[in-house]
Amino acid sequence: MNVIRFSDLIAAGKVAGQRVFIRADLNVPQDDAGNITEDTRIRASIPCIEQALKAGAAVMVTSHLGRPTEGEFKPEDSLAPVAKRMGELLGREVKVVANWVDGVSVVPGELVLLENCRVNKGEKKNDEALAKKMAALCDIFVNDAFGTAHRAEGTTYGIAQFAKIACAGPLLAAEIDAITKALATPKRPLLAIVAGSKVSTKLTILKALSDKVDGLIVGGGIANTFMLAAGLKIGKSLAEPDLVPEAQAVIAAMKARGAAVPIPVDVVVAKRFAADAEATVKAAADVADDDLILDIGPQTAAMLAEQLKAAGTIVWNGPVGVFEFDAFAHGTETIARAIAASSAFSIAGGGDTLAAIAKYGIEKDVGYISTGGGAFLEILEGKTLPAFEILSQRAQEA
Ligand code: 3PG
Repeated sequence: MNVIRFSDLIAAGKVAGQRVFIRADLNVPQDDAGNITEDTRIRASIPCIEQALKAGAAVMVTSHLGRPTEGEFKPEDSLAPVAKRMGELLGREVKVVANWVDGVSVVPGELVLLENCRVNKGEKKNDEALAKKMAALCDIFVNDAFGTAHRAEGTTYGIAQFAKIACAGPLLAAEIDAITKALATPKRPLLAIVAGSKVSTKLTILKALSDKVDGLIVGGGIANTFMLAAGLKIGKSLAEPDLVPEAQAVIAAMKARGAAVPIPVDVVVAKRFAADAEATVKAAADVADDDLILDIGPQTAAMLAEQLKAAGTIVWNGPVGVFEFDAFAHGTETIARAIAASSAFSIAGGGDTLAAIAKYGIEKDVGYISTGGGAFLEILEGKTLPAFEILSQRAQEA
């Protein structure tokens, strides 16, 4: 996608002395006391901020945190804990500025964190007057918030329309590059793993990928529905029988292209959904009426691992079994280790997938780990995300 990149503006010497407004995604999980429990997104925002400061800009950064009510700021909506963590990472104090829409005092070399942008009235609905005011705060707008790229809000869309210059920050650019490499110009064979509890929530992804990929590996409740579609019994496992025709259509579309949806040949079952439930490996054809399928079996896992090792590109979204329970984690672990061992370019995204990557410690062996949750899924659906759309429009006008 053709967008102006912040790195190009820096290289062209266009950033020194300028007022730079960075939209980051600092929407991180917190515990009840407000402590940050996972800081990946804050760490991922640092390179853009450091580049802007190094280039001599006056730097404003903002993000949403949670889903606050507009116009009703509450203490728990504050970015103060984020500022503290960001300060530790940058080795400097990060000041939080509230009520900033009508003017921000910041000088070159300085960094301020503008309080939760979703508290501003009009942010969610992308109000034009708000967007124009925010655009007037800066010379350069940098969108570095991939996690929020699927939202057309004031700080992700409107400000990009009206700012003098609108560009993509390094994180957003890296996400675009990784996704393009995986989906637009993939080295083949291209394999996708789409797993999760329900076909219904990922049906558009399955359909979109069935046009592109050479192999579509399904897992979790999604695989159960595909097993039904293949004529297998699944006992009392989680599935959506009404979506069997859709699953059959995906299988047929893949087959017509010479591609495949591998159906499990064996599974791990239990009589109840619990960490201490007894795990039994069965052939897929032998699932009993009172069985719950909680993982793919070892033969299936080994077969999929072979395919993954021989892949050119891998897109991974979702664990293939209940990997939180050790007795049902073997399938997901085998898949994770096969991705890590594969020479394929791999891209992974989604909360559960990131948790599996962390559990098996394979962060360094995955080609690219996306910071997007919903945004990553919408990309897989084949959608053009609003944040990209407006940056690309602005690049064409430039
Ligand atoms: C996310 O956590 O997926 C993003 O920060 C977007 O948050 P939202 O779903 O509240 O828009």
